[in-house]
Amino acid sequence: MQGFIFKDFLEFANKRLGNAVVDQALAQCQLESRGVYSTRQQYNPRELVTLLGELSRQTGHSGRELLQSYGQWLFKTLVNLPLPMRPFDDSFSFLAAVEEGFHKEVRELFPNANLPRLTCERGGPHEMTLEYQSALGLADLAYGLLLGCCDHFQESVEIQRESLAAGGTHERFHLKRG
Ligand code: HEM
Repeated sequence: MQGFIFKDFLEFANKRLGNAVVDQALAQCQLESRGVYSTRQQYNPRELVTLLGELSRQTGHSGRELLQSYGQWLFKTLVNLPLPMRPFDDSFSFLAAVEEGFHKEVRELFPNANLPRLTCERGGPHEMTLEYQSALGLADLAYGLLLGCCDHFQESVEIQRESLAAGGTHERFHLKRG
């Protein structure tokens, strides 16, 4: 996983949970990186899971809850990256462009990137399904990103989750726009 994601996660955790909690969690976890990440380097994605577990233990928020809130935060980080981005009319057209647009570019720039497989299908003007698949099992992060995307476009979208495998590795999201 890119150092840039870890740095962004630590920023999120420091802001939302406080520096003292994050420092304590880092001290407990004894991560290989020691919690020092450089933007363009790759790190073991397990560090995120370990850190989440410790933050969850210390704060009483579940790991799933933390991952979901981080997804909402991460969406803002991603849309504010200085990338040439064509304007999107709405959340559905944005989501339809992630796999073949943003993630494809990330794969080209960083061949070792850990990216999920996302498959979108339009079920009509106000319905879409998005299927997430990744060995990293970050379906809760994907859910948070979807919530962040709907917020960004100021749309009210009902999202139902259908788990297709244990461990958050394969999930189908049913989106219905109000
Ligand atoms: C709402 C739309 C999006 C969803 C649902 C989504 C989903 C995800 C998820 C769940 C991951 C974690 C890796 C995994 O689970 O395998 C990820 C990683 C990533 N995504 Fe997206 N993403 C979205 C939009 C974007 C956008 C707009 C960008 C902009 C460039 C982006 C760039 C990245 C990058 C850089 C990573 C990290 C790769 C790595 O650490 O190696 N994503 N994405």
